[in-house]
Amino acid sequence: MNQAMSVTAWSFPTRILFGVGAVRELGPLAKGLGKKALIVTDAGVVGTGAIDKVRAALDAAGVAHATWDGVEGNPHEPNVFEGLAAYRAAGADLIVAVGGGSPLDVAKLVRLMATHEPPLAQYDDAIGGDAKIVRDVPPMLAVPTTAGTGSEVGRSGVVTLTATNQKTVIFGPRLLANAAILDPELTVSMPARITAATGIDALTHNLEAYLALGDHPLADSIALGGLELCARSLVRATHHGADLTARGDMMKAAAMGAIAFQKGLGACHSLAHPLGADKGLHHGLANALCLPAVVAWNREVVTERVERVARVFGVAGSELADKLRGLNAELGLPAGLRAEGVADDDLASLADHAFADACHRSNPRPCTRDDLLVLYRASMG
Ligand SMILES: NC(=O)c1ccc[n+]([C@@H]2O[C@H](COP(=O)([O-])OP(=O)(O)OC[C@H]3O[C@@H](n4cnc5c(N)ncnc54)[C@H](O)[C@@H]3O)[C@@H](O)[C@H]2O)c1
Ligand SMILES: [Fe+2]
Repeated sequence: MNQAMSVTAWSFPTRILFGVGAVRELGPLAKGLGKKALIVTDAGVVGTGAIDKVRAALDAAGVAHATWDGVEGNPHEPNVFEGLAAYRAAGADLIVAVGGGSPLDVAKLVRLMATHEPPLAQYDDAIGGDAKIVRDVPPMLAVPTTAGTGSEVGRSGVVTLTATNQKTVIFGPRLLANAAILDPELTVSMPARITAATGIDALTHNLEAYLALGDHPLADSIALGGLELCARSLVRATHHGADLTARGDMMKAAAMGAIAFQKGLGACHSLAHPLGADKGLHHGLANALCLPAVVAWNREVVTERVERVARVFGVAGSELADKLRGLNAELGLPAGLRAEGVADDDLASLADHAFADACHRSNPRPCTRDDLLVLYRASMG
């Protein structure tokens, strides 16, 4: 079909403040949005000093605040309701989410539950739940401390639902943060392994978005730009963590990946989600271990696009999967899922859950449940 004959939507709405020291801008922004902020974060971030900078910025602007640091990694549904209770107990009218994707996502879903009826499952994007997100939600400022998910500029929150034990995307334009503050200094405290794993999440978003089905030339160009930043700076940010230029590049790449993946993601994210929900793997690490096999498998249907991505990494399309395996090694990540405690016996049930995940619907090569099983096997290492 002539693509010009169908109508698609392209939008890039978030206000983003980028730069070393940008966190100081939080105060004036918060003052315009509310009287009392609930800082939503996790215990690991509290130890980094980022929260002190956030509090100082709010204090300087005279915005009252309380902190809830109970967000869990790979958050589950009850965690959202713990956050909602903290929001209500604090008497807050604004959320400042500080941390990686887990606190940012939980914060968005706390906002959703502040003005919409439970259960969360009815808002699942895969069943058209976005149409039920109809009311305003409390304002939110997003302050990422990892450079990976791009949740700070995205319209979704990801949570594992209790009823299905599936990692589930809840999507709605109202969930977008009012502004995102990208301060590379806040990511310097990330250890190498978290830098590497979150960075590969950003790389995977850009790569899967570029290969995804759909007509979105804006997302495509942003994705290629994000991939260039990853190619230039992911290794450096991992092994020279104090390099603020490399840290800044990865923060940009993360935001660009999430902007680009409004076009869609792909099979790698469908494989990664059950590895997080069922096996507790960090989301970026799960992507890192599955991406090479997915790229090799997709190449026959999107040869030219894989060639274009490969050029960014200085290799031919036929070499891209191996290049990505080499990148994992260079980053100090393991060679496959087996090293992370995934057993052959786990794969059948993981494949069932991966097939139920919606991300592969925009993968350029259609996936059956058995295709996903083959991709898991190829990622065992
Ligand atoms: N909303 C989206 O569009 C989207 C996209 C991709 C992934 N996700 C979700 O995001 C979650 C993963 O987020 P993540 O990869 O950012 O990890 P995370 O938020 O779970 O954080 C991982 C670990 O890093 C620590 N940490 C964070 N910042 C730190 C810093 N500056 N210094 C030291 N330690 C720090 C945290 O305390 C935590 O222990 C998953 O649940 C995933 O499914 C969401
Ligand atoms: Fe991701």
